[in-house]
Amino acid sequence: MRTILLGPPGAGKGTQADRIVEKYNVPHISTGDIFRENIKNGTELGKKAQEYMNRGELVPDDLVVEIATDRLLKDDCKERGFLLDGFPRTVYQAQKLDEFLAANGQKLDKVIDLEVSEDVLMIRLTGRRVCKACGASYHVVNIPPKQEGICDKCGGELFQRADDNEETAKNRIDVYNKETAPLVDYYEKAGCLARIDGAAGLEETFSEITAALGE
Ligand code: AP5
Ligand code: MG
Repeated sequence: MRTILLGPPGAGKGTQADRIVEKYNVPHISTGDIFRENIKNGTELGKKAQEYMNRGELVPDDLVVEIATDRLLKDDCKERGFLLDGFPRTVYQAQKLDEFLAANGQKLDKVIDLEVSEDVLMIRLTGRRVCKACGASYHVVNIPPKQEGICDKCGGELFQRADDNEETAKNRIDVYNKETAPLVDYYEKAGCLARIDGAAGLEETFSEITAALGE
């Protein structure tokens, strides 16, 4: 399966990706997660990405394309395809991905667009908490952990992402509307877009996704 999860910040890409990966056994590639891992490890890439991420801006296209396409060349993607989360995010990135797929004799199956209104996005982003150890995502009101501040899955400590404050979250949504929203049209024209209600409950959204991807 070769699929893209498209949608604004807080639409539920990471949340639904966990479920999709479990059902379809496909590698999950989140460029945001790759950058956060590099920031945590203090790499050169992490240093370059951090300043953009903290402002809620996009990391420069060429850097992102190189990281994403390097990852797509790994054996697991050759064998089982991929679920891209947060890439591509500009028309330029989408064109570069198309070039990569054509050069490797591959084709996209589906682009899942999670649609959620802006007021709901802001509530989701500012209330999100993430596990330091395993990366599981919670929400203080919508999806609270059983014990406050502690991950249900691994007992790790929950924290708030540096870019989930109100000001940065708002800027990320503005950047999405300007830079990424045109991809909805791009993939609709390519004939592989599935529009999914990302504001429905977790399970309802997941069943809409599986209906679009096929069982
Ligand atoms: P990235 O990490 O990709 O962040 P994002 O796109 O802003 O998306 P999020 O991870 O914030 O949201 P999500 O859709 O995954 O939602 P989640 O499932 O967590 O990118 C971060 C930064 O990295 C960018 O700003 C940029 O700087 C850089 N970057 C990354 N890729 C790049 C690229 N290709 N080009 C350039 N720069 C790039 O859910 C959110 C919350 O809602 C959670 O609390 C969750 O529990 C809750 N929730 C989810 N679903 C539901 C539901 N159905 N009902 C109720 N609550 C729900
Ligand atoms: Mg995410």
